[in-house]
Amino acid sequence: MKGLKVDNLQVSFRGRRVVKGISCEIPPGARVGLIGESGSGKSVTALALMGLLGEGAKISGSVSLEGQELLSLTDRQMARLRGAKIGMIFQEPMTALDPTMRVGKQVAEVLALHQGGRRGKRQEVIKMLERVGLPAPEQSASAFPHQLSGGQRQRVMMAMALINAPQLLICDEPTTALDVTVQAKVLRLLDKELTETASACLFISHDLAVVNQICDYLLVMYQGQIVERGPLRQVLAQPKHPYTRGLLATADIAAVKPGARLPVLSDFFRGSDE
Ligand SMILES: Nc1ncnc2c1ncn2[C@@H]1O[C@H](COP(=O)(O)OP(=O)(O)OP(=O)(O)O)[C@@H](O)[C@H]1O
Ligand SMILES: [Mg+2]
Repeated sequence: MKGLKVDNLQVSFRGRRVVKGISCEIPPGARVGLIGESGSGKSVTALALMGLLGEGAKISGSVSLEGQELLSLTDRQMARLRGAKIGMIFQEPMTALDPTMRVGKQVAEVLALHQGGRRGKRQEVIKMLERVGLPAPEQSASAFPHQLSGGQRQRVMMAMALINAPQLLICDEPTTALDVTVQAKVLRLLDKELTETASACLFISHDLAVVNQICDYLLVMYQGQIVERGPLRQVLAQPKHPYTRGLLATADIAAVKPGARLPVLSDFFRGSDE
């Protein structure tokens, strides 16, 4: 099986189930949005997929990437996979970046992961920093994370996530902390990079308008379960679950209201960078 396949994923903390049997598939190149209210279990799901939940979590079910079962891997095996086959972008880059290391070196380390431990080539790193739109990439590579703006740090994290053209990119609220104009730029960039790397993407957000810019398939999560799923346009045109309807009613998507004619939504932002 190509891509990611999640089967009956469950996560509990001290006997409390917060992810209650999630199943989904993300074929190569697909872009799947995961939305849901705060506390519905989106981040826990993402962390479980990445093997980052730690000792306190009890996980069951199956997560396979390109046919390889991830839940039975050791921490070390999983760490090698992250960065090489699975890229990640979080809301807060400061927690993902090492504050004591120059950002160019951090990107180089991820590159080296994929190249069997050889040191990442500086030129490749600079090229990647340039691709994600970091200003003055040569100088920026020598900066420490705190010397960059939030938007610039997010671009560094994007460079780290994408430099190995991962099979799967997991984004958890990647633009939530950014102001609106920076958010729009970062989303356009992500769209372009996903097209170029042909990576599958799981894109988590509570913002339907943002998901709408990136994804073509939608999962709606509510209290630890997926309550609605389907091609994004279809779900937006005919939402079935009350939560989805509510979300849609308040979403800042001008052209989409329940029952409206199917709009040409994802074409809105696609390709406008080219
Ligand atoms: N390490 C943990 N230990 C115990 N409970 C946790 C842990 N991490 C998350 N939870 C609980 O799991 C539930 C789901 O949390 P999660 O972070 O996945 O929500 P979310 O959907 O990402 O919400 P948000 O939109 O606010 O980011 C919450 O009730 C949370 O309190
Ligand atoms: Mg979250």
